[in-house]
Amino acid sequence: MSARARIVGWMLLVVALALLISVFATWTIMLGRLQGQVDVELSNEKEKLATYIDKTVETTGTRDLGALLEGHLTFNVPDRYETFFTILDAKPHKRTFATPPDTLDSDPEFIAKLAAVDRPMYDWVESDAGRVRYAVFPVRSGAQRGAFVAAMFYDFRREDVVEAVQAQGITALVALAMAGGVGWFVAGRVLAPVRLVRQTAERISDSSDLTRRLDVPGNDDVAALARTFNHMLDRLERAFAAQREFVDDAGHELRTPITVIRGHLELMGDDPADRIETIALVTDELSRMNRIVDDLLTLAKSEQPGFIAMDEVEVADLTVSVLAKARALGERNWRVDEVADLSILADRQRLTQALMQLLANAFRHTAQGDLIAVGSAVRGAWVELWVRDAGPGVRPEDREKIFGRFVRAGSRHHEGAGLGLAIVRSIAEGHGGNVRVADADTGGALFTISIPLGAAPRVSPVYAEETS
Ligand SMILES: Nc1ncnc2c1ncn2[C@@H]1O[C@H](COP(=O)(O)OP(=O)(O)O)[C@@H](O)[C@H]1O
Ligand SMILES: [Mg+2]
Repeated sequence: MSARARIVGWMLLVVALALLISVFATWTIMLGRLQGQVDVELSNEKEKLATYIDKTVETTGTRDLGALLEGHLTFNVPDRYETFFTILDAKPHKRTFATPPDTLDSDPEFIAKLAAVDRPMYDWVESDAGRVRYAVFPVRSGAQRGAFVAAMFYDFRREDVVEAVQAQGITALVALAMAGGVGWFVAGRVLAPVRLVRQTAERISDSSDLTRRLDVPGNDDVAALARTFNHMLDRLERAFAAQREFVDDAGHELRTPITVIRGHLELMGDDPADRIETIALVTDELSRMNRIVDDLLTLAKSEQPGFIAMDEVEVADLTVSVLAKARALGERNWRVDEVADLSILADRQRLTQALMQLLANAFRHTAQGDLIAVGSAVRGAWVELWVRDAGPGVRPEDREKIFGRFVRAGSRHHEGAGLGLAIVRSIAEGHGGNVRVADADTGGALFTISIPLGAAPRVSPVYAEETS
């Protein structure tokens, strides 16, 4: 069932229930009032009769009961579904001019019963025209005994109520139908953008075309949904583009050593000295490829959760042990600037990897005996880890660029693929921190990794961009 049908269905159910209750309430209330209303109307007749008799006796002096009753009947016209008749000396006397649905005064037994009444009485009687509510008002004048009877054909009155309620019911049905129609229309309009979102999403997943965007104007929830959806597409598009670029670069980077290896192997002669030289060259290229593949794998992993495994890390110990490892690179003036004496939540292996990348770069950009220093310190809410060298430094215009993938600055040919600093950056950001380069006091480059104390690991780079 579509959302539209569900919304309209629920709405109609509620409206129908409300209408049903209102119709039912009207029905009960009107029926409940009917009998009281009829009795009031009948008792009014008593007043009218008394007034008429008093006035007539006063003005004409006649005391003849037959004349008085007849006179009253001629002047008093019954309402709809009402009939009057009179009884004189236990016999039917006169009846209202208009013929009633059923003549009650033609039943002698009934007349006899009414004639015997000596005080006003209200009662029910069954007639051919349904139930009748009547009132008998006995009158007396000297020896004459008579009665005035007002009768209401109750079932007809009841029929009126039924008709009124039916009319209300029909109105309710029309209102329900209209509510349904309007609801269907409005729900359709409200849901149209949602449908558009769905269809676009389907088209995108069918065609993998990430350039499409939703166009939902306005400022409501659906427009917000569309905007969020578009933001998501923006990010996905960027992420996919970056990935494609990365794969292209990686392919290109790996093709070069392969070409070199193939060229050497094709040109290799029979001379043993030549062979040894070629094999050395090929081995060198292969280990370069191996390093590139390792770096690529690290970067690929950095996109996934679990890249950073947080644990307690002693910063001082980390700083010192990294320098110990770096000494194996070659002869430099290796030094520790200072160490921060605290434990942080971090991934020790990844931090070691990052610092070793920085130290390897520093080594490559310096000559024998030059200064290379590592250090760590707490600055505000951050722990900083740095590598400082006495090399040529990084030109200001390259300082942001060099952290990109496959970016090598400077013209000097060397063996790196430009992935090292990209790895350093993803490790820093994986810790919720960052890395930057500046000029060291000693000249040369100063690379600093900053990690927030109480770092929360980033889940995945794609979602980390989430702002709102
Ligand atoms: N300590 C440094 N001194 C000067 N330049 C550096 C230093 N470290 C990195 N760079 C520059 O940044 C570039 C990117 O470094 P990196 O990402 O490690 O790639 P690679 O080491 O493969 O060149 C290097 O090519 C180099 O130009
Ligand atoms: Mg490097």
